[in-house]
Amino acid sequence: MSAASADHGAAQAWIASAGMPLRGSLRVPGDKSVSHRAVMLGALAQGVTRVTGFLEGEDTRATARVFERLGVRIETPSASERIVHGVGLHGLRGIDAPLDCGNAGTGMRLLAGALAGQAFDSVLIGDASLSKRPMRRVTEPLAAMGARIDTDEGGLPPLRIHGGRALTGIEYTLPVASAQVKSALLLAGLYARGETVVHEPHPTRDYTERMLAAFGWPIDFSPGYARLSGGHTLRATDVAVPADFSSAAFFLVAASVVPGSELLLEAVGMNPRRTGLLAALRLMGANIVEENPRAEGGEPVADLRVRHAPLHGIEVPEALVPDMIDEFPALFVAASLAQGRSVIRGAAELRVKESDRIATMATGLRALGARIEETPDGAIIDGGALHGGEVDSHGDHRIAMSFSIAAQRASGEVRIGDVANVATSFPGFEALAAQAGMRVRAAE
Ligand code: S3P
Repeated sequence: MSAASADHGAAQAWIASAGMPLRGSLRVPGDKSVSHRAVMLGALAQGVTRVTGFLEGEDTRATARVFERLGVRIETPSASERIVHGVGLHGLRGIDAPLDCGNAGTGMRLLAGALAGQAFDSVLIGDASLSKRPMRRVTEPLAAMGARIDTDEGGLPPLRIHGGRALTGIEYTLPVASAQVKSALLLAGLYARGETVVHEPHPTRDYTERMLAAFGWPIDFSPGYARLSGGHTLRATDVAVPADFSSAAFFLVAASVVPGSELLLEAVGMNPRRTGLLAALRLMGANIVEENPRAEGGEPVADLRVRHAPLHGIEVPEALVPDMIDEFPALFVAASLAQGRSVIRGAAELRVKESDRIATMATGLRALGARIEETPDGAIIDGGALHGGEVDSHGDHRIAMSFSIAAQRASGEVRIGDVANVATSFPGFEALAAQAGMRVRAAE
């Protein structure tokens, strides 16, 4: 059992094996990135924000809990709904206890930005996995804005944020493409004197920018660029959270690789900074049709109809990497079952996600007979057949779900260890997967 699963008490495992073709239609839970931001901006706004489609995951609930502890009243009138009673930019109240971000890198990094501008001190902690994730990428530029944030050795959490600092806007070019770092700087920028300008090496998801605009904050942004200045007011507005493309991704791959499948995924968020996997799967020969494209809550959404199709290996275009950064575990599975060789490059960030996703996927898929060579920033995968075996998710939600997809094409049973963290992003995954035809159940 890994340290991460120890945080959740009992370790949990799944047994997954080849099921039926995936059929019918389903709607995956709300987008994690949008849910985090809706609670954060709602809390810092003046007025009452109603969030619908909120992800009832451990990560996003941890963020809501942090704001409740800082004095924000958040009601849950029904599942996936939140009413956030905003306290305004300067209305949070500090507490003399650490604030727990759970497993959520997004929660911790964005909070670091928002809390750097407060009058009070705060301490952000996380679970075993989050406690190993690099935080200098946010603390260094925030320090350049005048913040003072102490970390553990090596730039690791906890983050001890000193309040009462006067922040000044900076112009900053991110060394790595990261929506979390960009967002942390923009949130600190709300509290800063002057302009905060962020340039990105590759454009990343722009939910913070879009949502700030929706909350009435003047902001100038385009792919790879964002600029705002401090001293304005956030005004509450309702937020409709689209279904999470990253959660739909597992079903896109599963239905693509299981013969006889035809599945409809409803109202999936189609922000172009998130849909890189769709492009990659299509290059591999996948049959995925976007139906009824529309806008919901200011975000593009579509129903995705996916039918089984034989996949072939590809060189994943490096330009797609930031737009599919959370989908590589699923892509590794698709590539392992495709005909021929796939090459992934330029994805070193995968090594500092909830687990080292290159190593965890390569080790697990190899245990099922896949031929994968790890490289520092990606992998070379020769597709073929998979057999049963035992794999370890290392407490990483997306790895656990990806292995359950691989099992749908394995010749024997796959035991998947350390799956409890699936609840961070996709509560109810097993039930939806079973409804679609997959075979995945809790191990005894
Ligand atoms: C996220 C940004 C990405 C992504 C994460 C969510 C966000 O992280 O991997 O799941 O909501 O801003 P990085 O900023 O580290 O690339």
